[in-house]
Amino acid sequence: MTSQALSGTTAVVTGASRGFGRGIAVALAQAGARVVGVARARDRLAELRDQLGGSFTPVTADAADPVAAGHILDEYRPRTLVLNAGASPLSRPVHRQTWQTFSRNWDVDVQHVFGWTREALLMPLEPGSTVIAMSSGAALRGSPLSGGYAGAKATIRFIAAYAAAESEREKLGITFMSVLPQLTPATGLGATASAAYAARQGVDIATYLQGLGPELTPEQAGAAIVDLTTGPGRDQGAYLLTAAGLSPVQS
Ligand SMILES: NC(=O)c1ccc[n+]([C@@H]2O[C@H](COP(=O)([O-])OP(=O)(O)OC[C@H]3O[C@@H](n4cnc5c(N)ncnc54)[C@H](OP(=O)(O)O)[C@@H]3O)[C@@H](O)[C@H]2O)c1
Repeated sequence: MTSQALSGTTAVVTGASRGFGRGIAVALAQAGARVVGVARARDRLAELRDQLGGSFTPVTADAADPVAAGHILDEYRPRTLVLNAGASPLSRPVHRQTWQTFSRNWDVDVQHVFGWTREALLMPLEPGSTVIAMSSGAALRGSPLSGGYAGAKATIRFIAAYAAAESEREKLGITFMSVLPQLTPATGLGATASAAYAARQGVDIATYLQGLGPELTPEQAGAAIVDLTTGPGRDQGAYLLTAAGLSPVQS
């Protein structure tokens, strides 16, 4: 990949105000893309605009709002669409959840991936476009302290796979993939979850994190998304993401 591999293209990143999404927005801008960052926190998006300058366009919106998805895709018609926005689940065991807390990641994460994916297929985006949805390693293992999080993230992986099949069937030339990052304390969501799972195991956070291995950073997440968008041979549909990089999910 050259450093300007995405020069002249537009990328839309949901959940760009912090965490992985911010790292992804920065990496895509560094690869030459004009980046449109979507999130609710106007001040954080403004900070990112100060950092990235004119290559970054902040859009304050709820990514789960289908009207926002339609407006943003109509206006920017991105070559790269990263569906990263996600709610931080309430860290409690299943019987201490209510249906409303249990289903939060369905209302936000799944609803947003469903809505934007649907728009991308119906529009459709230009042939050669890439849509990457953020699932989670929890989709493979469960998330006993995070309500419906793991099931929601598994469904996101399914939606990306269904969309890939529809793109193939209709010869749209749009690549749909999902990424399953490992748990990391380097973001707000991951720090809260790490603390809860450490407490449940009765160990301190440092001990718990040691068991997870090297820490995945937002910068590494950004590099991985650029790699998926521009690198050759990335045709597997779903990838695990750790500090060691991307690896195809087996079945
Ligand atoms: N960190 C981990 O360990 C980990 C592991 C596996 C998967 N993931 C997934 O990776 C993605 C990013 O997580 P993160 O760890 O970077 O979390 P984070 O630091 O909490 O950031 C979440 C981002 O999503 C945005 N967001 C949340 N609800 C939104 C909404 N309704 N509309 C628009 N934006 C919304 C937030 O922006 P505003 O609050 O400004 O709207 C923020 O930019 C999530 O989908 C998460 O499930 C994370």
